[in-house]
Amino acid sequence: MAIPALQIKDVSKDFGRIIALRGINLSVDPGEFVSILGRNGAGKTTLLNIISGVSQPSEGSVELFGSDPSDRQNKAKLAVISHEMFLYDNLTAMENLEYYSRIYNVPDSAVRVEQVLRDIELTHRRFDLVSTYSRGMTQRLTIARALLHEPALLLLDEPFTGLDQHAIGMLINLLRKQREKGRTILLTTHDLHTAKELSDRFIILEKHRIVKDGMMADTDPDKIRNEFFSASTAGVEV
Ligand SMILES: Nc1ncnc2c1ncn2[C@@H]1O[C@H](COP(=O)(O)OP(=O)(O)O)[C@@H](O)[C@H]1O
Ligand SMILES: [Mg+2]
Repeated sequence: MAIPALQIKDVSKDFGRIIALRGINLSVDPGEFVSILGRNGAGKTTLLNIISGVSQPSEGSVELFGSDPSDRQNKAKLAVISHEMFLYDNLTAMENLEYYSRIYNVPDSAVRVEQVLRDIELTHRRFDLVSTYSRGMTQRLTIARALLHEPALLLLDEPFTGLDQHAIGMLINLLRKQREKGRTILLTTHDLHTAKELSDRFIILEKHRIVKDGMMADTDPDKIRNEFFSASTAGVEV
């Protein structure tokens, strides 16, 4: 059998007295698209931070493609799209992308930079400083920056937040293309219909644990909402 893209075994995470995750077990195959659902505070961001190696689990282990998340080769395979922009305000879009191309040793970087700028529809603003960009534009550039080196594993933490309808559509298309290319994708979102549209599989985090791990094809997003996110089940957040 192929090595999983991601293998999480018995992971728990505490921040002092605050419990963030308990007993997480998750194995994701290469090419799978998994949506991570859960209320605010359920532990979604913490889980992505542990997968990317930004944060260490208090207990348990994580492997990306069979080795430690902090391994050099894994850094090159990984992209994280979160609310942290990792962009230089005092540089243009073009300069930011050229800079990251060098860091990631992107082959044919001029062509690749042009391509990602086109993908996120920022070609016309490529020579403007990032400091002059709207929030949505900055977010689109963050996405371009993350995709520049053709990462095998994409971690997206609520990437639709702050985008207008057009930009949301653009990102959905981009993610579909990434999926077609066989990339492994983990996405946190509160939008169950988009999750349904994009993913093969979903997990629900509740009270620090995975309470559901299912295939999207068999699942009605409204049923998920009623079962896990309706007002009558509110108050599970601790
Ligand atoms: N750096 C931190 N220090 C203390 N507590 C934290 C930290 N990061 C997250 N937490 C706590 O861990 C829990 C899970 O948070 P988080 O992973 O951000 O949830 P989600 O992304 O699902 O909204 C929350 O109770 C949150 O307050
Ligand atoms: Mg979060």
